[in-house]
Amino acid sequence: MNPKFAIVGAGVIGRQHGLVTSQLTDRLELVAVADVVPDRAAALTAERGGRPYASLTEALAAEEIDVVVVCTPTGLHGTVAIEALDAGKHVIIEKPAEVTVARTDEIIRARDKAGTLVTVISQHRFDPSTEKTLAAIAAGEFGRVSSGIAAIDWWRGQSYYDSGDWRGTWELDGGGALMNQGVHTVDLLVAALGRPVEVFAYTGTLAHERIEVEDVATGVVRFASGALGVLHATTSAYPGLSARLQVHGDRGSAVIDNDQLAFFHATPVGQDIEERLMGTTRVTSGGGSGDTAGSNPGQLSDAHRSQYLNFLDALAGRAELRVDLETNRQSIAVITGAYESARTGKPVRLG
Ligand SMILES: NC(=O)c1ccc[n+]([C@@H]2O[C@H](COP(=O)([O-])OP(=O)(O)OC[C@H]3O[C@@H](n4cnc5c(N)ncnc54)[C@H](O)[C@@H]3O)[C@@H](O)[C@H]2O)c1
Repeated sequence: MNPKFAIVGAGVIGRQHGLVTSQLTDRLELVAVADVVPDRAAALTAERGGRPYASLTEALAAEEIDVVVVCTPTGLHGTVAIEALDAGKHVIIEKPAEVTVARTDEIIRARDKAGTLVTVISQHRFDPSTEKTLAAIAAGEFGRVSSGIAAIDWWRGQSYYDSGDWRGTWELDGGGALMNQGVHTVDLLVAALGRPVEVFAYTGTLAHERIEVEDVATGVVRFASGALGVLHATTSAYPGLSARLQVHGDRGSAVIDNDQLAFFHATPVGQDIEERLMGTTRVTSGGGSGDTAGSNPGQLSDAHRSQYLNFLDALAGRAELRVDLETNRQSIAVITGAYESARTGKPVRLG
């Protein structure tokens, strides 16, 4: 029988999950949507099915549920996820898992007690551009991977921050450009460069008002392998450019710009690199010289659907879960470490 799903939080991303569940009716059934604003739950169930509830507690009491999808503001993810785990449910949590490492660890402990599956949405891990880059790194085709850049050059108007009380607050958003918008690209940097061990950062709130968190963050990260990374996250880059990952090794490099491979060059193991005194290859968005490969048009629901399929396969015992809480915890550690560094003016070691 197909697993029964409940979505908690019927806002911007909750509606996206409603769309994805409606595309996967052969694999799952949406039975409930809970939101503290009843009209939102009612609107989503009218569109995508299931029955509306005012809270997860009510939904759990009334419905048979296998999987709870947590789409509330970030600082409430732990409360909702732990309630679901204590009731023995599997959980899908929107990114980031929580606002601090300590709160993420509370969810990890609840998962270990429940013995159920928990994935954290990091949909860009499923983009073909990411998969191709990570496969090349794993195969040794980038050689020694020595550096990377995670850059999020986005614009969010003041109206975005004013659109929800929780946006731009430490308690519920957990951070600004680096945490809310940047966590995806930080996650890809960690996936490419390995375990992060130290971070140093500056942050500023420079182009918005009435927010507690940063709208610009810059930083540097050192990884266990010795590789070095650069962080640049802003919601103050008008009119809004791209999210970009660069990864560089001594046998290959990749540039992923807005989910697409803008540049890719890998050297198969056993093949020599071309000896060059100086190498320069011009990279243009949409394809530079060297091999390039496209990916999906980056539709949010496509990427979410790919992660749902991995979760459903893992639930059926047919696949390994590709993004778990421990994976997301590393990105949260980098980001909260960057905030601590910006506050103290010192580099922060990551445990
Ligand atoms: N994966 C992505 O690309 C992506 C994109 C956008 C947002 N997100 C994440 O999704 C989460 C929600 O963001 P959003 O933009 O949808 O916010 P939102 O404000 O649009 O929606 C949140 C919803 O949760 C409801 N809610 C609050 N507390 C609740 C509770 N205790 N129980 C039930 N419902 C509750 C609110 O009423 C609201 O409808 C955040 O963690 C955010 O980081 C992820």
